[in-house]
Amino acid sequence: MKVDGQHYRSVTLADDGWAVEIVDQTRLPHEFRRVRLESLDDAARAISDMQVRGAPLIGAMAAYGLSLALRHDPSDAALKEAAKKLRATRPTGVNLHKVIDAMARQLRCLPAPERARAAYACAAGICEEDIAINRAIGEHGSHLIEKIWEKGGRRKPVEILTHCNAGWLATVDWGTALAPVYVAHAAGIPIHVWVGETRPRNQGAALTAWELGHEGVPHTVIADNAGGHLMQRGRVDLCLTGTDRTTACGDVCNKIGTYLKALAAHDNGVPFYVAVPGPSIDWSTTDSREIPIEERDGREVAEIRGRAADGSIQSVRLVPEGSPVANFAFDITPARLVTRLITERGLCPAGRDGLAALYPELAGRVTSVRKVKSENSEK
Ligand code: MRU
Repeated sequence: MKVDGQHYRSVTLADDGWAVEIVDQTRLPHEFRRVRLESLDDAARAISDMQVRGAPLIGAMAAYGLSLALRHDPSDAALKEAAKKLRATRPTGVNLHKVIDAMARQLRCLPAPERARAAYACAAGICEEDIAINRAIGEHGSHLIEKIWEKGGRRKPVEILTHCNAGWLATVDWGTALAPVYVAHAAGIPIHVWVGETRPRNQGAALTAWELGHEGVPHTVIADNAGGHLMQRGRVDLCLTGTDRTTACGDVCNKIGTYLKALAAHDNGVPFYVAVPGPSIDWSTTDSREIPIEERDGREVAEIRGRAADGSIQSVRLVPEGSPVANFAFDITPARLVTRLITERGLCPAGRDGLAALYPELAGRVTSVRKVKSENSEK
């Protein structure tokens, strides 16, 4: 997508063909800074510090993290260590764990001198696949938006409420929940996006608003708590969010606060759609209580970060010194609150049958991620 009219991807190979360049998302929206990563440690730090974030992008980053590690040392021991290090960065989004499992399985079978090249090829393939998937989600989702626009000779823009950032910054390009927005906007359908700020890290206010601004999409940032009010007043036509992991039964794990938006949507008869790329479906999990919910540093809740009047980036404390804080990063929206899942293969009801109809070749495979994990750690 575009920044000041120029096209960027959120992760690319540097000109030298081996280092990796990312957009440092911790600097946005105040500064657009590209950063060069040269080692496994750089990649792991970029993920855990959230310079890169969003489940699909984290998956792509993990692939490049393994590549960087193997370029330095292609041994079995180095591969195992790199997989362990990357796996420990973020627990909830499933893409990271699927990428590591799949790549480690594949790379282990190759002679050591061939591993780095194969890893880079795999990472590039993951990036291209992500873009194709998101573009397809964009097409399917934009039809929904178009239908609302065409209903009853409507004059006002289609009002879409989103949460967190499921735009191009959370993926390699296009985004998941924002892909339909971008496709519909490019097709000339009048839309307006309500952007929930998404405390504590404010990915909505900082990243989604920044992306939409650069693409020229009309939007308004709101406090998270305003979503229910807008729905009661008939000012939201549909909610559209992303997911970090969706179970084989259609329960949606996404950024904290998604569940409350879905409850409000349900109470007000507002359709609640979730954009789900195939790689974010966890076929091995049917009970959403098994999903590890990341708990992050309490300072993200106790403090707020922004640009001061003198232009410097500062953090200020909101909470009394000594008050305990808890920082749950994700929640689960049960399938019953989700109107439809928007996948690259089309829309389906949120549930085992709906997903199985779209992904018959994957739905039957039940390989516990935890089981694979423990198998890997034994090797
Ligand atoms: O903690 P983050 O910023 O990595 O959270 C992920 C998200 O941005 C959202 O949950 C998003 O909706 C899913 S990723 C497309």
